[in-house]
Amino acid sequence: MVRIAIGSDHAGFRLKEAVKSRLAEQGIETIDVGTDGEASVDYPDYAAAVAGKVTSGAVDRGILVCGTGIGMAIAANKVRGIRAALATDVESARLSRTHNDANVLTLGARITPPDLALDMVQVFLDTPFAGGRHQRRIDKISALESEGGTRAPR
Ligand code: RB5
Repeated sequence: MVRIAIGSDHAGFRLKEAVKSRLAEQGIETIDVGTDGEASVDYPDYAAAVAGKVTSGAVDRGILVCGTGIGMAIAANKVRGIRAALATDVESARLSRTHNDANVLTLGARITPPDLALDMVQVFLDTPFAGGRHQRRIDKISALESEGGTRAPR
């Protein structure tokens, strides 16, 4: 059973709740790091909380929701070991798993209709990483992290 951490800012709160309900219907328990309402908060705080759950191994995958999904993706990808993918269509959600082994999905509640977001979550959770040549590329991403992100092509 896949373990999920979920978080949002105020803009993503309602969609976060919808995703949580859908997962609960399937018997999938989520660790909800907040936020707990529509009062204005700062999305990096929630990105950091979900990213921490993923990198510590407390959960297998993370889901983050803000207005566009962009801020959550930028923030989560600052955390070593996180591969956060912003998806706005089902095929991108699928490919984020098969090609990129994404461990966090970010969603834009002001961009993506709830039904589409729920479909993307389903595909994100159901799709395995393809490995093979894609693993080599993931290894290169990890190498960039361990070099502190300072290597630039010459
Ligand atoms: C909040 O107004 C908004 O900036 C935030 O939800 C997100 O869209 C940032 O990327």
